Amino acid sequence: MADSSAQPIAKYRSDYQAPSYTIENVALDFDLEPTATTVRAVSTVQRLDPQVGDLVLDGEKLELLSLKVNQQEHQHYQLSEGQLSISDLPERFELEIVTQINPQANKAFEGLYQSGAAFCTQCEAEGFRRITYFLDRPDVLATYSTKITADKAAYPYLLSNGNKVAQGELDNGKHWVSWQDPFPKPSYLFALVAGDFDLLQDSFTSRSGREIALELFVDKGNLERSEHAMASLKAAMKWDEQRFNLEYDLDIYMIVAVDFFNMGAMENKGLNIFNSKYVLANKQSATDSDFLGIEAVIGHEYFHNWTGNRITCRDWFQLSLKEGLTVFRDQEFSSDLGSRAVNRIKNVRLLRSHQFAEDAGPMAHPIRPDKVIEMNNFYTLTVYEKGAEVIRMLHTLLGEQAFQAGMQTYVERHDGQAATCDDFVNAMQDASGKDLSLFKRWYSQSGTPVVSVQTQFDAAKQQFSLTLSQSTPATADQPEKLPLHIPVSIELLASNGASIPLQAGGKPVSEVLELTQAQQSWVFDAVAEEPCVVLLQEFSAPVKLDYSYSSEQLLLMINHASNTFARWDSMQKLIAGWMQQAVAKVQQQQALELEPAIIATFEQLLQDQAIDRGLLAELLTISSENEIADNFQEVDIDAIAKARDFFIEALALALAEPFAQLEQRCAEADQQSLAHSDIAWRSLRAACLQFVGFSQPQRVAAAYFESSLMTDKLAAMAAANTAAIEQRNSMFKDYEQQWQHDGLVMDKWFALEASFSGGDALARVKALTEHPSFSMENPNRIRSLIGSFANNNARHFHAKDGAGYCYLAEILTLLNKQNPQVASRLITPLIQTVKLDKQRKAMIIEQLEGLAALDELSKDLYEKVSNGLQQLKG
Ligand code: TRP
Ligand code: ZN
Repeated sequence: MADSSAQPIAKYRSDYQAPSYTIENVALDFDLEPTATTVRAVSTVQRLDPQVGDLVLDGEKLELLSLKVNQQEHQHYQLSEGQLSISDLPERFELEIVTQINPQANKAFEGLYQSGAAFCTQCEAEGFRRITYFLDRPDVLATYSTKITADKAAYPYLLSNGNKVAQGELDNGKHWVSWQDPFPKPSYLFALVAGDFDLLQDSFTSRSGREIALELFVDKGNLERSEHAMASLKAAMKWDEQRFNLEYDLDIYMIVAVDFFNMGAMENKGLNIFNSKYVLANKQSATDSDFLGIEAVIGHEYFHNWTGNRITCRDWFQLSLKEGLTVFRDQEFSSDLGSRAVNRIKNVRLLRSHQFAEDAGPMAHPIRPDKVIEMNNFYTLTVYEKGAEVIRMLHTLLGEQAFQAGMQTYVERHDGQAATCDDFVNAMQDASGKDLSLFKRWYSQSGTPVVSVQTQFDAAKQQFSLTLSQSTPATADQPEKLPLHIPVSIELLASNGASIPLQAGGKPVSEVLELTQAQQSWVFDAVAEEPCVVLLQEFSAPVKLDYSYSSEQLLLMINHASNTFARWDSMQKLIAGWMQQAVAKVQQQQALELEPAIIATFEQLLQDQAIDRGLLAELLTISSENEIADNFQEVDIDAIAKARDFFIEALALALAEPFAQLEQRCAEADQQSLAHSDIAWRSLRAACLQFVGFSQPQRVAAAYFESSLMTDKLAAMAAANTAAIEQRNSMFKDYEQQWQHDGLVMDKWFALEASFSGGDALARVKALTEHPSFSMENPNRIRSLIGSFANNNARHFHAKDGAGYCYLAEILTLLNKQNPQVASRLITPLIQTVKLDKQRKAMIIEQLEGLAALDELSKDLYEKVSNGLQQLKG
């Protein structure tokens, strides 16, 4: 901030106050024009707090045209930055406000804006205040009716929340439609869309026999890419009835796909708006992981109808109430429909590679934050993914039945309300009878706990004792930490791989140990030999484990652990152990080598016909540089990259034949359908191609040129990157020529170009910003090109000359004014850098100081830059 008096102010969770007025219903009337849209809002307002006089409404980037109270022109108001304060008001009245806005100039994509030729809205978290002056907070629940008037030829579809109640035509070429949403909702769930689309229609019969119309709106020409999204929606509706006993409530459910969208999708009541990335897919243009992503996000937004919309958040500090729970629900949906083990592995990879770093970085916050400057900065991996882990721990502690009883209590108590995280845990506690008072600390404490392990075996008594200690390192936001309630799911393995039943005092004991103190011990009886203890089965808590297993123990678990996730996790530990030593060797300029035991482990896996194909693919996928970095106190970017490169190439050359054979077998076995078994074959093939490129690059090129499936093509391109094969150029050229008209498909190409470590990656990225398929206005393009470079090409982004940092700062300067939300997400790799060396930190500080000095620095960047500087300097 150039002007220090204009420093943004923080809001604190502890300052919550109930609203002093409420709005019971609102009638909105839009006259849509690209540069001058008028919005008439007629609200029924009721005073709640007799002590309060003025009604203070939120409003940003609005031009006030008129203000009436009970149909009379009202003069008693004051306009200030972001607020309209109205005085001399009766207790209950009709308020009419007319504002004018400019959707075309809105490149921040918050409020009403244009995506291509269409109008659309994004109101979460605080975007409704860019449409009209309002009590823009989630604990004000109103019923909405919305009339939209627009040119009929350009905007044949006029959509809003709820049911269509009337429509008509005007003489001037315009038409209008009226919508009514019977369910009271907070303003962040309001939506409006106007445009010309192709429409995919279907229907779903709910379990109570109601016929619900399903409508999916996509850009013209994209119908052939919209079927999977519709199928996913129907699957989600059915699953929520069966697993959570929750049925849809309106008679119509609409989804609109738009190209310009800051996030993944938005759960607006009855009218979801989606980033087209999470709708459009066919086998030629999208990968299996795109298909799975669509299924998950369609599910996620649908599940919000109960966990988010019918029951919403009291204030934004409670965001995880709806997001953590809804992510848990979408994870369960994906796991019930597909592979539970593969889903768990992918979620844990994400947590370890990015959420743990967030929790150790300058923006560390509990899943229910205490202090917020810009709410948009708190749609984080912590609130979403760690939030889902917290719900999952409840599920582990209670079991499915008691958890579902808790859900029912929660819905019965809070339907139609704006609730808190405490309300949710209380419902779980009351329905299950389990004391969750200590568990609530997960909501207020940030940071990743470390659980350390000590074991003892008494052969004479046949007793095995296990001592677990927990501690959470201080974080940027909280110096002091307390013990948490941590479920640790365990198994004891005998040396032959058999599972030893858990018992104490002659009685069976649960495999879920509840660690609630700083240190606790458990003794197990009837243990005939010293066992190997499998810890954190299914990743039962979002913690780090401090326990050095021997290689023999790791191999035993890889082969015999009952829990599939634990087998994979043991493999990760085996690789991590090697990486730890290898990085030290690189730093001491010693030669690296791959032990025969590791090679043998991989060889045995490659020959294993019985192991699940999807799981094998994950076992063969070497941890990313980000995942590896999480295991280090100090991160040496170049040494990690070198060690990882060596591991992959050495393994590829040592096992060239088995990798090639398995790759071949996968190609033959794949029936090219979207069945999960075929997805597994293709992911296994992709995992093998990563290695095959080093010995048989022509096989990689063949996978690209001979397959018609995008999954195979992209797997080949990624493999071409890894082994930097000669055929890489022709593959990438071919892709570009085929898809340059289609930005969404080009995103995959931009991402691979940006993460390729060969050549001068920074120069390549800079040049690609001039590519005809690139646009600095489209968030998807920016994330694919610039985001991939900064997040997935560490050795170039963190280049010793600081050029990568300098470039990112330039881009952020550009985006600061235009789209602060996107800028603020892009800055992450520049601020999550506490573990770097002094020289790099100094260069980062310089860039952050440059940003801090910008005129009109957005609140979004201000919060991140100032926290980043504080941690780096402190
Ligand atoms: N509630 C949305 C979801 O979880 C998140 C979201 C979509 C969002 N668009 C946004 C949050 C814009 C902040 C700003 O799916
Ligand atoms: Zn959500």
